Order: sequence, then C-alpha cells, then structure tokens
Amino acid sequence: MRRWIFIGIIALLIIIIWLRFFPPRAWLNLTKQVEISPASGAALVEKYDCRNCHRIDGEGALVGPQLDGILEYKDPEIIRLWLHNPRVIKGNTPMPNFHLSDTEVEAIMAYLETLPKLKAN
Ligand code: HEC
Repeated sequence: MRRWIFIGIIALLIIIIWLRFFPPRAWLNLTKQVEISPASGAALVEKYDCRNCHRIDGEGALVGPQLDGILEYKDPEIIRLWLHNPRVIKGNTPMPNFHLSDTEVEAIMAYLETLPKLKAN
C-alpha cells in the first residue's frame, strides 16, 4: 500500500515537472487561452516584460531589436517562430522561451501590427 502512494507521488512530480518546464502546445493552448486583439496583445507584452529588452510603442530597452513597425519589413511567419520559441531561429539568443499559447502569439501579432515604424533619428 505504502509503495503505491510513493509511486503515485513520483508520477505526479514527473507530470508537474513536464508541464512546467516542457509544456506541450496542446497544454499551453488549453491553459493560456486569450482573446486575439491588440489590447490583449498589449497586456501580454506587459505581463511578460518584453520591454525589458525591446522598445515597443516607443518605450523600453534596446537589448533586442525595437519592434515598432516590425511587421512592415519582416516576414510574419518568422516573427511567429520567434514568439513560439526563439531558439528555433537562433540557438544562443538571450531571448527566453515564454511558452506562449497560439492565441497569445496571435494577440501579440495583432498588437505589433498596430505599431507604426518609428522614424529614425
Ligand atoms: C531577455 C531579453 C528579451 C526579452 C525579455 C524578450 N526578448 Fe525578444 N529578442 C531579444 C533579442 C536579443 C532578440 C534578437 C535576437 C538575437 O540577437 O538574439 C529578440 C528578438 C525578438 C523578435 C525578432 C525580431 C526580429 O527583428 O527578427 C521578436 C518578434 C521578439 N524578440 C519579440 C519579443 C516579445 C513579444 C517578447 C515578450 C513576450 C520578447 N521578445 C522578450 C531579447 C528579448
């Protein structure tokens, strides 16, 4: 009897570690479903602190490229890949994988779409 409790606890721990650190897309889509709109995209940019590294809507750091108007000159499919998993594009990038769900990615895309390219000066 004790042995089964022990095995149960180990199994539970393995599942928790799996979902926490290697979440499958189906799990992300189930647990992190958001409305696809520029407003919810803007909220996600706040939630995940993208501005610690990116200038977005004229505000934020320049560790990474500024994202204003990025969809005017970069392929949206590549930008989606960045959002899904930055290491797929660049193995040693400092940009973390935020484990975004599909709707979170689309909401951020919708927000980025609204940002005009900043004038260089
Ligand atoms: C720890 C810093 C950091 C954080 C936080 C971060 N990024 Fe990045 N990101 C980068 C860097 C650096 C690059 C440029 C790639 C490189 O040189 O490694 C990048 C690249 C990108 C690109 C591709 C830009 C291009 O020109 O192709 C997009 C899009 C992007 N980030 C979006 C985001 C979003 C959205 C968030 C928040 C959810 C975010 N990033 C959070 C560092 C960061």
